[in-house]
Formats: sequence, structure tokens, C-alpha cells
Amino acid sequence: MLLLLACTDPAIEASGPPAPVVAPVDGPADAPIEGLSDAWSERYDDGYDAFDTIFRTGSGLGPTYINMACVACHAGAERGPGVVTKMVVMDGDAPAADQSALPWGPTERPRVAGGGETPISVPTDVANLLVTERVGPAVYGRGYLEAVADDEIERVEAEQAAAGIVSGRINRLAWSGVEADSAFHDWIAGDTGLIGRFGVKARIVTLDEFAADALQGDMAITSPMRPTELPNPDGLDDDSHDGVDTTLEVVNRMADFTRLLAIPPRPVGIEAGEGDAAVGHARFAEVGCAECHVPSLRTRADYPVEPLADIDAWVYTDLLLHDLGTAMADGQADGTALSGEWRTAPLIGLSHHATFLHDGRADSIVEAIAAHGGEADAAREAFEQLPSDEQAALAGFVLAL
Ligand code: HEC
Ligand code: HEC
Repeated sequence: MLLLLACTDPAIEASGPPAPVVAPVDGPADAPIEGLSDAWSERYDDGYDAFDTIFRTGSGLGPTYINMACVACHAGAERGPGVVTKMVVMDGDAPAADQSALPWGPTERPRVAGGGETPISVPTDVANLLVTERVGPAVYGRGYLEAVADDEIERVEAEQAAAGIVSGRINRLAWSGVEADSAFHDWIAGDTGLIGRFGVKARIVTLDEFAADALQGDMAITSPMRPTELPNPDGLDDDSHDGVDTTLEVVNRMADFTRLLAIPPRPVGIEAGEGDAAVGHARFAEVGCAECHVPSLRTRADYPVEPLADIDAWVYTDLLLHDLGTAMADGQADGTALSGEWRTAPLIGLSHHATFLHDGRADSIVEAIAAHGGEADAAREAFEQLPSDEQAALAGFVLAL
């Protein structure tokens, strides 16, 4: 009798059984890619040591820095806990032309060492200062991003321009001038028009360049790729460790660690929408998430890490910049990226994240979707129109990627 009553309830008849939610797979976030040669496996091990190394005054820390080791902001290759604080003087919704109130630039460097005495702090007496945070992103699976062929990214940029639903663009950059591991590229000083792929605004071209940039900017360790100390309130052009602090070898090994990390384990068949992933997978495409979070991109045939060469990399990003609207804007320009523009975050190993988005403002996938504005307005609205069990299936699919 009860059952019969339930079946005649039109609301229940229309919704049917709730869509299943795919369960994420437990597994390490810091495992190497499967099938590496012995030589690459050794580089992964050496790279992990370098990534874990704590730099102190004797190894060139200072004059002003944020933290002492890569692992402080990318613990176990995962996200955070360390953050970088950014600041900018705003004029209404846009960065002000006059940034002279921030003579040491837009980045807080709260610690000193190696002769530095005055940290770079967030000033308390500057009007219209917008202060934002960037959580250290996860670094696993980044070799897949580096391996993606340039013409794939250019193809997606052109397809988006033609279709007119979203309008991603490449952050075109100049090469910073010093050769790192020449196995990965042969650019020289003066080369321009390169594709930025790394950082939350795609402001860096290669993983070697990112390692050198992080050493200099976050840890105040200079290297042949970034040989000068950054401007600081004490006017020091070196720390108490004379000259360039570390070698290209160390830079390359740190980069190798990030490029040789696997994508954390995913449920088998999730990329194809098999089993419990079916509804989430289908709605992800239908509401338009996949316009920017492009499920797979083809990699270069000549990428030196063999298991990553000439494959479909399931990275769920287009590596392009998109304007996500004023609520997400941080007033920062990185390379050609503007205040509201962000690189589509790769959806990789998200079940390892405690928070989401560049500043960790979202505590769940649903909250992260709700913060998508600008070019993602239509996708967000379409998501909000879904029945709640299908929203859960879509969010569960994303979390398990
Ligand atoms: C003080 C915290 C901090 C330290 C220390 C730090 N990072 Fe980061 N890292 C970040 C933040 C924040 C970002 C995103 C910043 C941006 O895009 O401007 C980032 C981004 C990255 C990325 C790009 C990831 C992506 O998805 O594109 C790589 C690679 C990386 N860091 C490697 C390193 C290495 C190697 C070291 C050590 C030499 C290091 N980081 C030290 C905070 C840190
Ligand atoms: C217009 C392009 C665009 C569309 C459409 C889009 N996203 Fe995003 N998404 C982004 C960008 C750019 C970021 C990075 C924002 C940031 O770093 O703060 C992002 C970040 C995310 C994150 C956070 C990832 C992390 O590492 O913290 C999740 C989750 C996400 N998107 C899911 C979705 C889902 C689900 C949809 C569909 C409902 C969607 N996105 C639609 C561009 C898009």
C-alpha cells in the first residue's frame, strides 16, 4: 500500500532513482609516473630530495623570503599549506596606474636572512590596497601539462574563438634567457611568443623556469636562470652567501620532480564515463565545463620523458587564460594575464585538496563552481539548473578526477 502510494507521487515518478556518485580512489599524491626508465627514476629520487631541502643562511637564503623549502608550500607534492600574499593599489575595479606605494613590488616577503633586516610587509597605511592570497598548487601531473604539444593549445584557442561560447587565450611570453635542461627545449634569449603554461595565471613557460623562479621569488635563492636578488628595502644586491646561490643542476632536479609525478590514481574508466561516473561525466560536458576544462590534449611526440610522449593527457584544462569576473579578480598582471584572468585549473587529484581555487576560497567542488563568473557564467547557471542529485553526480565526478 505504502509502495503504491509512493509510486503515484508525481514528484518521485519524475525524478527516478538518484544518480550514483563515483567514489574517489585512495592513493599517493607523490608517486612517480609508471614505466619510467632507470635514469628518470633516479632523477625523480634526486628531485624529491631537492624539493624537500630546507635552505638556510649558509646556502644563500635571504635577504627577504617567504619560505625555506619547496615542500613548505607543496607538502608531499600536494596543495599548500604555504601561501604567497599579493597586494596591489586599486582604482575602482582596476589596478591603479600609480603603484609607488609598493616600492618592493606586489609580493609580501615576510622573513629575512643572510644580512636582510627589513621584511617586505603588507603596508597598513595605503588606501585602496587589495590583498589576496595564492595557495601553493599541487604539483603532481605537471609533466603532462609540459608535454602537451603547442599546436594543441593553439587549436583549442582557435576553436573557442570560432565557437564563441568561451574565449580563452594564450599567455604569450618571452624566454627568460638562460638555458636550463636543453633536453626539453632549445630556446635562446630574445625568443618571444612562447606559450605560458605554469602558475595560476600561466606566467611561466617550463618547469625548469618555474623552479628557478620559485627559488628566487619565494626562497631568495639565486641560480644561473635567475641570478639576481630581488629588490628589497635594505637595498642589498646579495646575501651573506656571495654570488649565485645554487646551480642549474639543482634547478633541473627540482623541475624533474614536478615533471615526473604521476596523476594520482583515478577510478578505472572515469575518463570514459564508465560505471558510476556516467551521469557526472555526461553533465560535465553538457553544462559546458568541458569547454575550458578540456578533458584531454595530445602530447608532443618528442617529449623526452617517454611515457608522456605522444599520448592523450587527461588533464581537464585548455591551459588558456579565462576571465572569471570581478569577484575573482586580484588586480595582478602576470605576463600578459590581466586582473580577472586565470589559467583553467587542471582537474587532477582534487580529492587530495582541502580547499579549491587559487586562494582556497571554496571548501567544496560545488562552492568552487558557484565562484565561476565572467566567461563561465553560462556553465555555472546550467549547473545550477540541474536536479540536486545530478549536481552531486557532476561534483563527485570532478572530485574523483
Ligand atoms: C611560499 C610558498 C611557495 C614556495 C616556497 C614554493 N612555491 Fe611553488 N607555488 C606557490 C604558489 C603560490 C604558486 C602559484 C603561484 C603563481 O602562479 O604565481 C606556485 C606554483 C608552482 C608551480 C606551478 C604549478 C602549476 O600548476 O602551474 C610549480 C611547478 C612550483 N610552484 C614549483 C615549486 C618549486 C620547485 C619550489 C621550490 C624551489 C616551489 N614551488 C616553492 C608557492 C610556493
Ligand atoms: C570559462 C572557463 C571555465 C568554465 C566554463 C569552467 N571553469 Fe572551472 N575553472 C576555470 C578557471 C580559469 C579556474 C581557475 C580559477 C582559480 O584558479 O581560482 C577553474 C577552477 C575550477 C575548479 C578548482 C580547481 C582547483 O584546483 O582548485 C573546479 C573544481 C572547477 N573549475 C570545476 C568546474 C566545473 C565543474 C565547471 C562546470 C560547471 C567549470 N569548472 C567550468 C575555468 C572554467
